[in-house]
Amino acid sequence: MDFEKIVDRKQTSSVKWDRAEKIFGSPDVLPMWVADMDFDNARPIKDALRKMIDEEVLGYTFPPDSLFTSISNWQKTKHNMPTERENILLSPGVLSSIAVAVQAFTEPGESVLIHEPVYPPFFSMVNKNERRVFRTSLDIEDGQYTMDFDDIERQFKDENIRLFVLSNPHNPGGRVWSEDELVQLVELCKKYKVILISDEIHSDLVYSEKTCVSPVTLDDSYKDWVVTLHSATKTFNIAGVKTSFILVFNEVLKAKLVKVQEETELDIVNTFGMRATEAALSESNEWHEALLEKLEANRSIVTDFFDKELPEVSYMVPEATYLFWFDASRLGVDDDKLRETFAQTGKIGLNDGISYGPSGKSYMRLNFAVPKSLLMDGLKRIKTVFDHYSN
Ligand SMILES: Cc1ncc(COP(=O)(O)O)c(C=O)c1O
Repeated sequence: MDFEKIVDRKQTSSVKWDRAEKIFGSPDVLPMWVADMDFDNARPIKDALRKMIDEEVLGYTFPPDSLFTSISNWQKTKHNMPTERENILLSPGVLSSIAVAVQAFTEPGESVLIHEPVYPPFFSMVNKNERRVFRTSLDIEDGQYTMDFDDIERQFKDENIRLFVLSNPHNPGGRVWSEDELVQLVELCKKYKVILISDEIHSDLVYSEKTCVSPVTLDDSYKDWVVTLHSATKTFNIAGVKTSFILVFNEVLKAKLVKVQEETELDIVNTFGMRATEAALSESNEWHEALLEKLEANRSIVTDFFDKELPEVSYMVPEATYLFWFDASRLGVDDDKLRETFAQTGKIGLNDGISYGPSGKSYMRLNFAVPKSLLMDGLKRIKTVFDHYSN
């Protein structure tokens, strides 16, 4: 477990490193964008895969009981969510699960409500499935995103919303929604018969001052309205294995999901993903706890740097996720040029806020899940950009 080791990821088909030149238009950009950590994987995961390759034949496989047990135990101990095998559906990815949920719970042309700003594929998954996307903007209170319940209720009513997709915790703002907020949201869902999809892929990456709550655990009746999506891939940096899970406690909702999964073969996950997920959830707790300490230390490095070196730049302190959302409006650069500006002037690859929706305007997203030396390098590059534009 060495979170300071620099792993050379170039020429490994890494989206983060090997797509950077294409995305940012420059070969020497330091990539601190897509939510993928520059940390080597936990040893039990690598050992499990190595053992498999050395000792087994890679033919057809089915999910073993031990995989379901590892997911149940994780949900129970980390998320206070007692989960039986029959509540778990495997799925290649959280985005695949969103697509399945859209098809299972809505008809073409029906309406889906989503926060904005939010992780951009939420919009595209709904659009690609030919459902109508409605957006409800997040407010900012005390430097953190909050939900606008009046607007949510108005849209539930006026637009006949059938599905709400929630990022819990929130990407890109790093907000951990409070119990009160989640109760308000699910109560509205119950009132207007809207299914809530709670995407909890970042829910294991929560800082010590907060606890991420799964809305389905708040009241037994919420099981009829909430479907939870989760995965070991973000927590353990194994996104390449394409394996995730859906947690569903209502038989009718489950039957609808299973039908779509079976029709599309999206109920099958790959051998490596199953093995890696099980090793992650059942054997890599020590790595997970050390990771949280490392990320919390990095979060302090980032906020201290901004406070000291860029005091005029506002930002959101992430309560979860390794994503740092800061306001670049002082640069006076148009939104469609911000990403390029950081890439050309600072040689740093960041996500531009506008791609998360219109209210992401002027923001940039930094991924700080990297060794300290890379983080310091990245922060200096960001400062170079602000210094350049203030001269
Ligand atoms: C909120 C959120 N949901 C889903 C995903 C992607 O999940 P998957 O790779 O399992 O499709 C991400 C990736 O960053 C994410 O941030």
